[in-house]
Amino acid sequence: MEFLSSEQLTNIRNSVDIVEVISKYIPLSPKGKNYFGICPFHDDHSPSLSVSKQKQIYTCFVCGASGTVFKFIQDYENVSFKQAVKIVADYAGINVNLGNIKSRVEPNQQLYDIYDISTKFYQNNINTSEGKQAKKYLYDRQITEDIIKEFQIGLALKNADLLLELLTKKNFSKEDMIKSGLIIKRKGGYADIFYNRIMFPLYDLKGRIVGYSGRIYNNETDSKYVNTMETEIFKKGELLYNYHRAKEEARTKNQIIIVEGFMDAIRLYSVGIKNVIATMGTAVTRTQANLIKRMAKNVILCFDGDEAGAKATFSCSNELSLIDVTPKIVRLEEDLDPDEYIKKYGKEKFLYKIDNPMNVMDFKLSYLKKGKDFNNNIEKADYINSVINELNKIDDEILKELTINKISEESGLNIDLLKSKLIESKKEEKKEIEQKKAETKKTTKYEKAQMYLLFYMLRNMSVIKTYEKRVTYIPIEKYRKLAYEISYFYKKNNLNKIDEAEFLTYLSLENEKMLTTVGEINSLNLKEECTTEEIDDYVNVINEFNIKNECKELRSKMNEESDQNNKKQLLQRIIDLRKEN
Ligand code: CTP
Ligand code: MN
Repeated sequence: MEFLSSEQLTNIRNSVDIVEVISKYIPLSPKGKNYFGICPFHDDHSPSLSVSKQKQIYTCFVCGASGTVFKFIQDYENVSFKQAVKIVADYAGINVNLGNIKSRVEPNQQLYDIYDISTKFYQNNINTSEGKQAKKYLYDRQITEDIIKEFQIGLALKNADLLLELLTKKNFSKEDMIKSGLIIKRKGGYADIFYNRIMFPLYDLKGRIVGYSGRIYNNETDSKYVNTMETEIFKKGELLYNYHRAKEEARTKNQIIIVEGFMDAIRLYSVGIKNVIATMGTAVTRTQANLIKRMAKNVILCFDGDEAGAKATFSCSNELSLIDVTPKIVRLEEDLDPDEYIKKYGKEKFLYKIDNPMNVMDFKLSYLKKGKDFNNNIEKADYINSVINELNKIDDEILKELTINKISEESGLNIDLLKSKLIESKKEEKKEIEQKKAETKKTTKYEKAQMYLLFYMLRNMSVIKTYEKRVTYIPIEKYRKLAYEISYFYKKNNLNKIDEAEFLTYLSLENEKMLTTVGEINSLNLKEECTTEEIDDYVNVINEFNIKNECKELRSKMNEESDQNNKKQLLQRIIDLRKEN
């Protein structure tokens, strides 16, 4: 590790208590030796995240997320390892000079560099005489010079080879140019993807520019927006527009406003409503929903006022409710979007709407009812059924009761009938879930032996010794690698006592992916202590498996062998192997 010595890292890690740090982010309650909370890294419903004060690590029993305080901050805050160390150091009041710290080599550095350079280029363009018309377009939309600066808005000129030229001059390889998603290969050469558009940078969660949305401003026949395609650093479903700017404000206000268009986000932000992010017109993914969940408790959906906006509100609410987020809904009149609404009615009136949102069930009722003719029995039944379907998704008994009363009044249907229908459809849903559970695969005893052995290797020095002495090969690659790392780590550092936190820190530096495997192993619900017999048992099962496999291979070799002598030798080896076991 180049940037801080492992002593320094240990020192920083030991100057905080993981329980206290994680408590800053999610509520934890003590249970037995450990602390438990709702896991922020998957769609969790009951507290599955266990935090050990003694070992200074956390593990989720369901999704397998696992690690030290550094890893928690890294994943929760979506920051690099280095930044996570800095944050923890800050909590501990330790001064770490990040300026002098050499960061780890970022594999996609070239792509980030291309985005830095192109943004500066586009920003420069918009300030030249060729940018006048674009500026006028922005000013007309009340995008001021300040906003242009803050959001790094720029301009791609009419020629489709200017960026190509610049990047070539800066010695970027064609391969990186294409990887960046800004240059395209054409017959006879290369060209810029963006030209003659106003360029809005898109940022990743850490605030680095990783893509653009280019808007037309002088040619009404072209498509309104062109977006960067998916690249190694731009995954649309994993980011939210304005996330990095909104994060702090959302946390302090404990409220996050979600809009559709990035123009809407820019408007809200520029009038001082900074706890806003935009979905950029696509369906919200599970990743995005989880990000939203972590930003603030109070989630407000304020999509466009038109029919498409209502539809998006409906589906976004459903995605959020799957991870137990119940948003509040704001609907804007006259089909306006938030940008237009603020420009027409002002910030105060908009804030009034944000402060007085609808609850999601009321929104759904009115959405599902829209356009339905209650004199037509089929349409009425359709409405009732879809409401029941929605009621099934919520746990709030009072809200259920109220809604049932409401639709009974609306439809003239008997309350008891509606209730029995609700119970019936809930039963069906349960059945489906049970079925799915049964389908998930069973683990074989060989897999189990490998996992259980690792479970105790992470906890017990003498099990590591047994592994070193008696196990020559662990069949499943990820487990083999982990066993190897455990053994290597303790040998290399000459440790004769288990220090799981230290080991996990080592893994996050050397082989971060393996932390998932550790999590998987740690989430096995095994007792902490084990007997020698149990360990022997696991070792025997693993060895037996290896021998079986080897015999199988030898046998097939033997069958193919025509030379009688060789055949005999192979047979003898099989017999010897069998004896070994
Ligand atoms: N969008 C897109 N391509 C389109 C239209 C929309 O990628 N052809 C995305 C953009 O990210 C946009 C979001 O969907 O921010 C919402 O679309 P829309 O409401 O049309 O955008 P506005 O913010 O209203 O844009 P403008 O005011 O410039 O028309
Ligand atoms: Mn819009």
